[in-house]
Amino acid sequence: MSSKDKVLELLENNKTEYISGEAIASQLGLSRNAIWKAINELRKAGYKIEAVSNKGYMLGEDNDIISAQGIASYITSGSQDNGLIDKFHIYDTVDSTNKLAKEMAIAGAEHGTLIVANTQGTGRGRKDHSFYSPKGGIYMSIILSPEKLDSLKPDDITLQVGSAVCQSIEQLCKVKPAIKPINDLFVDGKKICGILTEAGTEFDSGLVQWIVVGIGINFDSDLSAFPKELQDIVGSLFKPGQASVSKNQLIAEIYNRIVK
Ligand code: BTN
Repeated sequence: MSSKDKVLELLENNKTEYISGEAIASQLGLSRNAIWKAINELRKAGYKIEAVSNKGYMLGEDNDIISAQGIASYITSGSQDNGLIDKFHIYDTVDSTNKLAKEMAIAGAEHGTLIVANTQGTGRGRKDHSFYSPKGGIYMSIILSPEKLDSLKPDDITLQVGSAVCQSIEQLCKVKPAIKPINDLFVDGKKICGILTEAGTEFDSGLVQWIVVGIGINFDSDLSAFPKELQDIVGSLFKPGQASVSKNQLIAEIYNRIVK
């Protein structure tokens, strides 16, 4: 992990608390100069990091940049393991997180691998529909191994994932979405989330080898910038810039409920 990522991990784990440069340096085994450089790099990447003499550095509540370190800071022990951060792949933009997840699953990526992007160029929905995926949304795919699915049943996985997303949103966003079977979530009659489940099967045995669940959420999306034909149909959990929870926290909550 780079010094920048190590410092980010420490700041995310101590979010809203000051931590001295000296404490960061000794915990990470880095020089004060390396810390200073890492803080500057993080600021350049958009993080608002406060620095107060005699107190140190603090990552405030108002940082909503999706990162592996930010998501990991909200993962609960049930689904936590060593090397968790290495399973989290965060991109600014990809064609489709499901497409990438399928490629990774075929190449042997393990249960719980998570792919998240800020935007998708060719996001996909069910029945080969496209899924409009601009900035402000959460676009995530999780690779699951059938043998590791304790409570989730491959037969109705989309509905169970829908219910996990519903509960996560209800818990953190103070709205109660309704599931329109099998793969859409609605708030106030507007679609705020779609789910696409895909799987790879061994031809001879018919056994499912891997499952990819793709979840697209309009989080704090600017609906006025959506194509005209979607504007009456879609909604967003929050108005742009007015979210009361971070994307990292919602992603982690969903992950906690799905990956055991
Ligand atoms: C639908 O509405 O029919 C399902 C939409 C699923 C969209 C998500 S966004 C993340 C993942 N990547 C994709 O290309 N699709 C799913």
